[in-house]
Amino acid sequence: MKGKILKIHLIAAARPNFMKIAPLYHELKRREWADPMIVHTGQHYDLNMSDVFFKNFGLPESHIHLGVGSGTHAQQTGNVMIEYEKILFESPPDLVVVVGDVNSTVAATLAAVKLGVKVAHLEAGLRSFDRTMPEEINRLVTDAIADYLWTPSVDGNQNLENEGVSPEKITLVGNIMIDSFVMARKNIEMLDVYSGLGCKKGEFGLVTLHRPSNVDNGDGLARLCEHLVAISKKIPLIFPVHPRTLGKLKAFGIVSLNEAENIHLTDPLGYNDFMNLVFNSKLIITDSGGVQEETTYLKIPCITLRANTERPVTVTQGTNQLCKPEELCKKVDSILEGSFKKGSIPEFWDGKTAGRIADLIKTYKL
Ligand code: UD1
Ligand code: UDP
Repeated sequence: MKGKILKIHLIAAARPNFMKIAPLYHELKRREWADPMIVHTGQHYDLNMSDVFFKNFGLPESHIHLGVGSGTHAQQTGNVMIEYEKILFESPPDLVVVVGDVNSTVAATLAAVKLGVKVAHLEAGLRSFDRTMPEEINRLVTDAIADYLWTPSVDGNQNLENEGVSPEKITLVGNIMIDSFVMARKNIEMLDVYSGLGCKKGEFGLVTLHRPSNVDNGDGLARLCEHLVAISKKIPLIFPVHPRTLGKLKAFGIVSLNEAENIHLTDPLGYNDFMNLVFNSKLIITDSGGVQEETTYLKIPCITLRANTERPVTVTQGTNQLCKPEELCKKVDSILEGSFKKGSIPEFWDGKTAGRIADLIKTYKL
């Protein structure tokens, strides 16, 4: 007799979510007992913040689109809850998988858990211990109420246990972002995006910035841009600009980056194009969560413009270092002089996380 087919919602919302759901979608599609469906909340909606990733990862169009768009934290969280609850009433799945730490992650979790629908959190247990970060609030709430907690690294297990979570809810599954890279690697290696931007292999720096702590304050952002201009006199910089950052640069009237000869500003890039730049860069300056992990995997020197990180293994084991804006030029100089740590790859960052998760779901009583 044929067993039950599990209906599984994969919640995707913002740029860093697509590379977390893609490997799992493909893996579950291969299992005869699973019926994975992509639920896009619409938190990110520009072509190059959303659609491009569906193409990059060979995903079908989302099965359900909630169309919530931008807003304040409460608006965005509330609208996802209201819209997703309607779907849950109509046709509840057997399991909801939420990923990462964006507003849609906590919103979908709240809506589902209150209706008794089981929720698994992929990338559980990460903590920056900085509650001024909206993502830290999202992580804490999601992990407190989700049924299954899937961690990317052992520090995640430790944090959850320290918070009193019962160990049977927690499983170390590994880092799903590495699955995406392994999946796309051939296509990434075939490109040479840097040439099109007038740069040479291994002879440019790559920049991404979008955290409110770096870009939402006019004076702070202007100072940070001045540091980037100074660095660009030593090594050319490529900077794909996030829509939040573009909005802030315009609102504060900051033009120093546009005027710098050696800074190449671009729109946000698709995954393959962006990872081709990561792969071939000399160093990265970022405040992204995902980029800290990708550089650790690829052993590329990464300078993270933040006071803390929820991904400490990228610092203790990987090639990442935290940095204050005023220290940036010095840190870049020392990398250019050849001084940086080589790093190692954390356990279970091996491209096999989606397979481990599918095996695990099969053991749940859903
Ligand atoms: C969100 C996440 C953050 C994640 C980041 C990834 C939260 C609280 N923040 O931050 O954790 O690191 O995504 O990129 O969930 N905008 C566009 N087009 C889009 C999307 C956004 O123009 O497709 C602009 C809008 O003006 C919007 C602003 O960017 O107001 C910020 O978008 P939002 O999703 O609220 O936060 P992010 O800064 O993108
Ligand atoms: N990324 C991308 N194009 C870009 C910048 C980033 O494809 O122009 C990818 C990057 O490789 C990583 C993910 O987006 O996989 C990280 O997303 P982001 O920095 O927006 O969010 P965070 O990880 O900080 O939440």
